[in-house]
Amino acid sequence: MKKIVLFICLLLAAIACKKSNVSVTPVTPPVVQPPVAGVEDILKTTATFPMGVAIDPSLLLNNKKYRDVILKEHNSLTTENAMKWQAIHPSENSYNYGGADYIVDFAVENKMRVHGHTLLWHAYNPTWLNNYKGDSTAFESLMKKHILEVVGHYKGKVTSWDVVNEAFDDRGSLRKGSTTEGSIWSTKLGNDYIARAFQYAAEADPKALLFYNDYGQEYSPSKLRAIISLITDLQKRKIPIHGVGLQFHININSDIAGIESALSQLAATGLKIHISELDVNFSNFQKNASITFSDANSMAQKKIYKQVMKSYRKLVPPAQQFGITCWNVGDADSWLRSAIQQNEWPLPFDDNYLRKPAYFGIIEGLKE
Ligand code: G3I
Repeated sequence: MKKIVLFICLLLAAIACKKSNVSVTPVTPPVVQPPVAGVEDILKTTATFPMGVAIDPSLLLNNKKYRDVILKEHNSLTTENAMKWQAIHPSENSYNYGGADYIVDFAVENKMRVHGHTLLWHAYNPTWLNNYKGDSTAFESLMKKHILEVVGHYKGKVTSWDVVNEAFDDRGSLRKGSTTEGSIWSTKLGNDYIARAFQYAAEADPKALLFYNDYGQEYSPSKLRAIISLITDLQKRKIPIHGVGLQFHININSDIAGIESALSQLAATGLKIHISELDVNFSNFQKNASITFSDANSMAQKKIYKQVMKSYRKLVPPAQQFGITCWNVGDADSWLRSAIQQNEWPLPFDDNYLRKPAYFGIIEGLKE
C-alpha cells in the first residue's frame, strides 16, 4: 500500500516539479564509439571501487533510459537534492521523505549503495529556516533534531552521509554571516557546529560512514589546508569522521597537478576518499555561447576523465577508495545547464544517455 501511495505522491510531485532543464538548442550528438564486440566494459565492473551517480527521483520515476543507465553502469547512488532541507524538511514540524524514500527503496531493491547528501549546507535552505528567529539554543536543537530524525529514518539503509557540505570559502575561511556566501550554522552556532553535527549523526546511526564534503580542493591550497586542519582537529578529538568528499566540478583545462595534490594530501589523513560530484565542463562556469561540443573539446574531456581515474587509483590506497560519483547521469540532466543557463556537456553520457568518448576515457583510466 505504502508503495502505491508513494508512487502517486511522486507522480504528482514529478508532474509538479520535473527537474527544470534550461531549453538548449539541439546539438548534433557526439560520435559514440560502440562497445567492443563480445566484451562490453561497464563502469561498475571495470572499477575496483563503487561507481556512483547523483540522481533525481522524478527522473528515476519517469525516464526509462535514465533508469536503465543507472542500473546497468552504477552500484552507488547519491541523492542530488531529495535529502536537502528544502526537500526533506519543508517546514519546521514536517518532513517529506517521498523523493528520498523512492531513491532509497530503488537502491535497496537493486542492491546499490546510497550516499546521503547533505545534512548541513549553507545554501538552498528553506525560507522558514533562513527566517528562523530562535536563539543559539533553539538553533542547536533544530540542527540536532533534523540530523537525528533524518539519519534515524534511513538507519541501516543509507551507508554514508555528507554531514557538512562546503563549510569553507575559497580563501579557506569558515563561511560566516548572512550573505549568500555565509552560513546560518556557523553564525548561529559558532565554529564548532561541525564537530557536533558529526556527533549527532553518529548518535543517530553509529554504523554510518560520515563525510565532510567540499569543492575546490584542487585549485585552492588555502581551502585544502583548512579542510585538512578541520579533519586533523576532529581526529584528535575523536569526533567520528570517516571520509572526505572532493566534489571535483572540474573542466577540460583543470590542472592535474592540483587534482593530484588534493588527492594525495587528503589520502594522507587516512580517511576514505570520495570523488563525490565529478563532472568536466567546457566553459569553466563562464557564460560563453560560442562553446560547442566539438571533437577537440570531446577529446579533451575524455583525456581528463581518464586522468582522474588514473590519479585516484595511483594516489588513494585501495582501503581508502570510497568511490567515484558523477553529478547527474546524462548531459541533459546536468545542473550546469540551468546554473549557467547555456549549453554544457559535462558527463560521460549524452542527452540520450548514450556513451560519449568521455565514458571510454573513464574505462581506459580504470583499466590502464
Ligand atoms: O523543484 C523546483 C521546481 O518546482 C521549480 O519549477 C524549478 C525552477 O525554479 O526549481 C526546482 O528546484 C530546483 C532544484 O535544483 C531541483 O531541480 C532549484 O531551483 C535549484 O536551485 C536546485 O539546484 C540544485 C543545487 O544543488 C541547489 O540545491 C542542483 O540541482 C544540484 O545539482 C546542486 O547540487 C550541488 C550539491 O548539492 C553541492 N555541490 C554543488 C552542486 C552543484 O551546485
